[in-house]
This record gives sequence, C-alpha cells and structure tokens, in this order.
Amino acid sequence: MTVIGLVGSGEIGSSVARAALDHGYEVVISNSRGPESLTGLVGDLGPQARAGTTTDAVRAGDLVLVAIPLKNIFDLDPAPFTGKIVIDADNYYPQRDGQIPALDDESTTTSELLQAHLPKAKVVKAFNHIVAAEILSTAQPAGLPGRRALVVAGDDQAAKDQVAAFIDAIGFDVLDLGQLSEGWRIQRDTPGYTQHRDLAGLRADVAAAKRYADM
Ligand SMILES: NC(=O)c1ccc[n+]([C@@H]2O[C@H](COP(=O)([O-])OP(=O)(O)OC[C@H]3O[C@@H](n4cnc5c(N)ncnc54)[C@H](OP(=O)(O)O)[C@@H]3O)[C@@H](O)[C@H]2O)c1
Repeated sequence: MTVIGLVGSGEIGSSVARAALDHGYEVVISNSRGPESLTGLVGDLGPQARAGTTTDAVRAGDLVLVAIPLKNIFDLDPAPFTGKIVIDADNYYPQRDGQIPALDDESTTTSELLQAHLPKAKVVKAFNHIVAAEILSTAQPAGLPGRRALVVAGDDQAAKDQVAAFIDAIGFDVLDLGQLSEGWRIQRDTPGYTQHRDLAGLRADVAAAKRYADM
C-alpha cells in the first residue's frame, strides 16, 4: 500500500487526499493546528485516512505533498523530510506571501526554494497549475482522447517517475518539464497556468511561456 503524506489540509491537500483515496492509496494528513483540528475532515475522508502532526505525515508518506502558503515553507522542520519524495504544489502570490526577492528577480523558482530548504528531500513540482477542485472533476482514465495533462519537474528522475505514476493513477497524463529550474514555465500568469490542456496543448503552453521580466 502506498501512503500519501499531506502537509496542508486545505484546498489542494484535501483534494489530492480525496483523489488518492479514490484510487486505493492511504493518506496521512496534517495542518498547522494539529490532528485534533482534522477530526471532521478525516471522518469525511473515511477509514483509509488518518490525521497526524506534520512530522507524522512526512514520516508515513511514500510520497509527501506540500500544499501550504509558500511563505510558510520556511517553518517546516527539514529533518523528517530526509530521503523523502516531496511533491511541491505551492505558488508565489506576493499579496499572500510577501515579497521574496529571489523570486521577484527570477534568480530562482518556488520549487528550488523548497528544495533548498529541504536539501535531503527529492522535490518534484506538480499540481501547482490545476484548480484544486478540478483534481477530482477533470480526472479521466488513461487512454481517453483529450485527457488532461499535468506537469512534473524535478532534479531526481526516479522521484519524478514515481510522482508521474501517481498522477497517472489518479487521472491525468504527465508532461516532464525537466529540471526544477524549468518550473517557472508553469508558474502564475503563464499560458498553461490553471488551464485545461491535453498533453500536446500543455507542451505548447510551456514552450510559449515567458519570464515575468519579458511579459
Ligand atoms: N487552491 C488551489 O486551487 C491551488 C491550486 C494549485 C496550487 N495551490 C497552491 O497550493 C498551496 C496551498 O493552497 P491551498 O489553496 O490548498 O491553501 P489553503 O486552502 O489555505 O490551505 C493551506 C493549508 O496549509 C496548512 N498550513 C499552513 N502552514 C502550515 C505549516 N507550517 N505546516 C503545516 N501545514 C500548514 C494550513 O493549515 P491550518 O489551516 O491549520 O493553518 C492549511 O491546511 C498554495 O501555495 C497555493 O498557491 C493552490
């Protein structure tokens, strides 16, 4: 049984949890307020779900999703993430996250920031460009024409392959963007961001993406 550990139980965390449960995974879900605050959600998710501390969710997860406001990634304790495959769904919204100079000057990307904070994890960017509810509403079985595609980006190919297999299992084709440093191609305000695209459409969108400085 593959366990998905979830750091963040909001829109994205709970949607990925539901998708994973629908496809036979177990989930351990966490938030900033502790497992007691998740009793209602876990009751709703069913017997294959349990609540834990963030450390519990990270330790239990074969794959660990981080889905929290970007500014809060710096509060995560890196220790339990050692050796873990970490899916990063986060986006940069300065109104919410404050100004982050290294993102403003585009000298790095959001997922590279998470990788730098969790140096012993294998970070894979995914799920940042789909509206949370659409993880359930637009999923389709493999092989259907026009099946929606989602990206993966990462510096560890084996980790990326495992995340790609998970994304395929819950209902989407997968486009490999390359290294984490390519993640800007699907960041906020790029052509593919939040758009429903099949594999060919998403490939065209990421190829057409421009840096903020060039928009
Ligand atoms: N919403 C979308 O459609 C969507 C789509 C793609 C990507 N994203 C990105 O995904 C991330 C999460 O978005 P969201 O909409 O799911 O947010 P959300 O609904 O506001 O939920 C945020 C979750 O993060 C938890 N959290 C905050 N700080 C934490 C910490 N230090 N440790 C553990 N948990 C923490 C919160 O727990 P508490 O409630 O206990 O504080 C809450 O469960 C953001 O970066 C967002 O830009 C969102």
